[in-house]
Amino acid sequence: MSERIFIGVAWPYADGPLHLGHIAGAYLPPDIFARYHRAKGNEVLMVSGSDMHGTPITIKAEHEGKTPGEIVTQYHQQFLASWQKLGISFDLFTNTGTANHAEVSCDIFLTLLDKGYIYKASVSQPFCPVCQRFLPDRYIEGTCPYCNSSGARGDQCDDCGKPINAVELINPRCRSCGAAPQFKDSEHFYLKLTAFRDRLLDWVKQQTHWRQNVLNFTMRYLEGGLKDRAITRDIDWGIPLPLDGFEGKCLYVWFEAVIGYLSAAKEWAKSSGDDEKWRSFWQGEVKSYYFVGKDNIIFHTIIWPAMLMGYDGLNLPYDVPANEFLTIEGKRLSTSRNWAVWLPDYLSRYDPDPLRYLLSINMPETSDTDFSWREFIRRNNDELVATYGNLVHRVLTFTYRSFNACVPVPGQLDNHSQALLSSASDIFNTMDNLLYHCHFKEAIRSAMSLAQETNRYLDEKSPWKVIKQDRQASATALYVAISVLSCLKTALYPFLPFSSQKLHEFLGFKGSVEDDGWKLHFPPPGQKLLPPEPLFSKLDEELVDEETSRLGHVHY
Ligand code: MF3
Ligand code: ZN
Repeated sequence: MSERIFIGVAWPYADGPLHLGHIAGAYLPPDIFARYHRAKGNEVLMVSGSDMHGTPITIKAEHEGKTPGEIVTQYHQQFLASWQKLGISFDLFTNTGTANHAEVSCDIFLTLLDKGYIYKASVSQPFCPVCQRFLPDRYIEGTCPYCNSSGARGDQCDDCGKPINAVELINPRCRSCGAAPQFKDSEHFYLKLTAFRDRLLDWVKQQTHWRQNVLNFTMRYLEGGLKDRAITRDIDWGIPLPLDGFEGKCLYVWFEAVIGYLSAAKEWAKSSGDDEKWRSFWQGEVKSYYFVGKDNIIFHTIIWPAMLMGYDGLNLPYDVPANEFLTIEGKRLSTSRNWAVWLPDYLSRYDPDPLRYLLSINMPETSDTDFSWREFIRRNNDELVATYGNLVHRVLTFTYRSFNACVPVPGQLDNHSQALLSSASDIFNTMDNLLYHCHFKEAIRSAMSLAQETNRYLDEKSPWKVIKQDRQASATALYVAISVLSCLKTALYPFLPFSSQKLHEFLGFKGSVEDDGWKLHFPPPGQKLLPPEPLFSKLDEELVDEETSRLGHVHY
């Protein structure tokens, strides 16, 4: 029975290029998951888009002397190009600047207002006497009242991850001019999170399948006491409030960005020609997965679910498999200090699959993991090239040359051959289970262990030598190895889509590896092979120094 899977992916701010922390944290995992489910024949809708609003964008624009519109257009285009090159297969990657998104956001706002889950209050807001403006979110900085870290902003502290109300900041300052803010009254709307406390607690307690870190973080937050949150801002870049008398105010970026999951599904439906089709991914038998980095957890396990509970009639998240952080060369990633590997840079110099490989096998699933260029080159050379690529290449080139470019006809399979094939089938089933439960790292490790086992099999069978005395024995060993390669190209497809497609074709299969399905499909004896080429190339060790020396230089 085919399943329906909705995959929501965190919406990146269109205020700068993507880096490897984004990819390992939030973008590669859902792509692996989506490709796996599509290959299984399940119906998948994977959406996201550029987050175009909020103070990250306006601050960047002011900094660069551009308009917010120029900034978001530039990065939105860049994101689309990056997804294409890295193979992140969104069904729709839109943005929060569309009329559709504004319409859906206003509908949710007005519905929640109407139901009493949003209320109006006059609140004291920081106002800079020098700049003569309100200081929403990132325009104000100070010391975190929870963890005492100094760089906390008006909306949250990046160090402890806690959301903050600007009035709580210790020693607040205007980020543009450094002045101490005054506080002025302003009318805002609040989301009544406190009204959902019991329902949220009951619901979260039932989510025993969530990752431990996600569950703990969410429970701690719920038990620590929910507060109602302001969902409007004194800012003119964003979605204006759909009410008269509130000029100069917009919906808070986080309130409307999460609505993007729904508005994107509606946009996708409209462009498919069936306006109501979004319902099949939002109502009834669907599992909704939200892939986000750990700094986004509560927005997806508490705030968005509360909004959905209030709105009523739409599915709550089934799982939020948030990842931990990726460090770079042992240090915390920092965009301002340029301690980051930028995705467009990577893609301009290397192939996509080696990065997908490294970030999968070293995925920060349950704890932070580190990216280093030495490790990248080592894993590329010792694992992708030596273990997997060479296996494929030696089997296919020899078969191509010695067996007339066809899959050889096997003789009787001995115990060793049978054991390898049953190991392939066991590993394939194990991977199926692991992928289904979002254990990506373990899944790719199993696939690599199968490649190793196949190398050992070939070392023992040595079809290249045996062929001189016993052509049939050589044919059998190659047939068995080719069968395992066919298993590997499917099993590794979610992780390494580009090389799996190539291998699929070298093996003589037509069409796409995804359409071939998530099943063991051994090439029939006699099937014509295509001339093989190496799947991966070795990288020079000298690149380690060249690449690491790029880190940490700040360009102005
Ligand atoms: N733009 C936010 C960030 O980069 C993430 C938004 S996720 C969403 O941290 F779901 F709210 F869109
Ligand atoms: Zn100021």
